[in-house]
Order: sequence, then C-alpha cells, then structure tokens
Amino acid sequence: MFGKKKKQDTNLLEIIDLEKDSEDLLPDTGQKKRKEKAEKEDEHEVLIEFSDVCKKYSQGENEFYALKNANLTINEGEMVVILGPSGAGKSTLLNLLGGMDSASSGHIWFGGEDLTTYSDNRLTRYRAENVGVVFQFYNLIPTLTAYENVALMKDIKEGTTDPVEALSAVGLKEHMHQFPSQMSGGEQQRTSIARAIAKNPKLLLCDEPTGALDTGTGKEVLKLLQSMSRDKGRTVVMVTHNSFFADIADTVIRVKNGGIENIVHNDTPKDASEVFW
Ligand SMILES: Nc1ncnc2c1ncn2[C@@H]1O[C@H](COP(=O)(O)OP(=O)(O)OP(=O)(O)O)[C@@H](O)[C@H]1O
Ligand SMILES: [Mg+2]
Repeated sequence: MFGKKKKQDTNLLEIIDLEKDSEDLLPDTGQKKRKEKAEKEDEHEVLIEFSDVCKKYSQGENEFYALKNANLTINEGEMVVILGPSGAGKSTLLNLLGGMDSASSGHIWFGGEDLTTYSDNRLTRYRAENVGVVFQFYNLIPTLTAYENVALMKDIKEGTTDPVEALSAVGLKEHMHQFPSQMSGGEQQRTSIARAIAKNPKLLLCDEPTGALDTGTGKEVLKLLQSMSRDKGRTVVMVTHNSFFADIADTVIRVKNGGIENIVHNDTPKDASEVFW
C-alpha cells in the first residue's frame, strides 16, 4: 500500500517552508478565465468543484481505481456528509479535497484555480491557508501534549483560535497537558478536532470525527461542526458510516465502489441536537 505513509504525515508537511512558493504563474488562459469567472460569479459561492476526478493505484500490471470519474460541487459554508461502505473511496475523496493527495486525472477547481496543476509548494500553501483536517486516525504528534498539538496551528496560519478555547469546546481543558499516549482514543480524537477547529479554516475536513466517541460526546462534536458551518460560514465536509448524520447535512454525497452513487441536497437539515443514533 504505497502512498499511505505520505498521506498520514501531511499535517506535518504543513509546517514546512510556506514562503518559498511564488504566486504561481497561471499556466493557461482557461485557468485564468475560470479564476476571473469565479471572482465575478461570487453569488454562486462555489468553493470547490471536481471534474472527472480519478485516483488510480497501480500494483504491477494491475490498476485499481480508489475513485473514478468523480464530479461534484461544494458551495461555501455548506455542511456536507459523505457516506459509503468501508473501502468505497471516502477518505480518498477527502484527501483529494484537502490537497493531501493528488488526482491521477481530472480537475479540482478551488476559487477558479485547478489544484491538479499546483506544484508541491503551492499545494502545501493551499493546505496551510485553507484546510483543517480531522484525520481518521487522529495524526497527533506523540511527543507534544494536547495543548501543544493544538497550539501548532499558530505557526501555520494567522487568525487561529486560542488553544485553550478550542480544547475547552471539545471538553478537554482538564486534559490539555497530557500526551497522546496518556489519552483515551476518544480524547485523542477530540484533540484532533480541537486542532482543526483552532485553525479556523475555510474548508474543514473530518474523517469519521465521531468514530471513537460515545453518543453524548459525539453529539457535542456534531453541534460544534454544524456551528462552524452555520455560524462561522466555514465549509464542513464530514465522512461517516452513520447514515443518521445525513439529516444534518445540506448535501449528502454517497460513495460506492470508487464512484459517486448520488448527491442529494437537503433544504431543511436538522439541528445536530435533534439527531439520535
Ligand atoms: N495508497 C494506497 N494504495 C493502494 N490502494 C489504496 C491506497 N489508499 C487507498 N487504497 C484503496 O482504495 C480504496 C478506497 O480507500 P479509502 O481509504 O478511500 O476507503 P474508505 O471509504 O475511506 O474506507 P473506510 O470506511 O474503511 O475508511 C480501498 O480499497 C483501499 O484499499
Ligand atoms: Mg476511510
């Protein structure tokens, strides 16, 4: 399974040299036109768009599509839930949205620019400036306390939330000086959520953010994520196995066998406090 290690270390990569990259020269007029169009058509508020995106892995002679011909649009401030069985391609989709993985083909438009044309440095800057991630397996830095893991965001981006405030929001104020090895799985997951929220990103990506949490704590996290979208206008994309969470989403994307099965918009999403599972 190549590429896995690289994927999981991406949050560490964000810390490195963000200055180096210049405002890249836009490679073609098509891209320039899209950028201008996106600026003009602000009323559509499209944040990100996939156009025939594929992620292919080759093993020897065999090719395997973790994601095939994905087309989707995510608007600014939306709460999006991605559902699908294990191995369907949910994390792959999330990693592509966050610039943590690169597409094998197709285009990923963000603010009128095509992420698939970005250099590594430009992609690093995209992640640093725009994306907060709650990883499926937390990806905390083991040698740093919960507080220090969250405080790291200050070095990456301006306008971050105070780490104590972010940790308090997930009920971890009392545990903030513990190392990941001294915390339960659920506490590590909440630290990872505090870290992503502290960054106050335009695009908040969460891979099974309630997977290790009991119902009560899970509901608090859902409320927090919904309020990031409703009250702070952040775009939240959450991967989950729990189909009950679809009720709180503005948009539900179902993924199956590496393909987008369907996309459903919900005009009257439920309040997170009304969801039971
Ligand atoms: N680096 C890789 N190399 C080869 N195959 C990979 C790699 N990463 C993912 N895959 C494969 O792509 C498919 C989709 O993986 P993905 O992690 O996106 O699934 P998922 O829907 O998130 O599943 P889960 O719910 O179990 O987390 C899986 O069959 C997986 O084995
Ligand atoms: Mg996954």
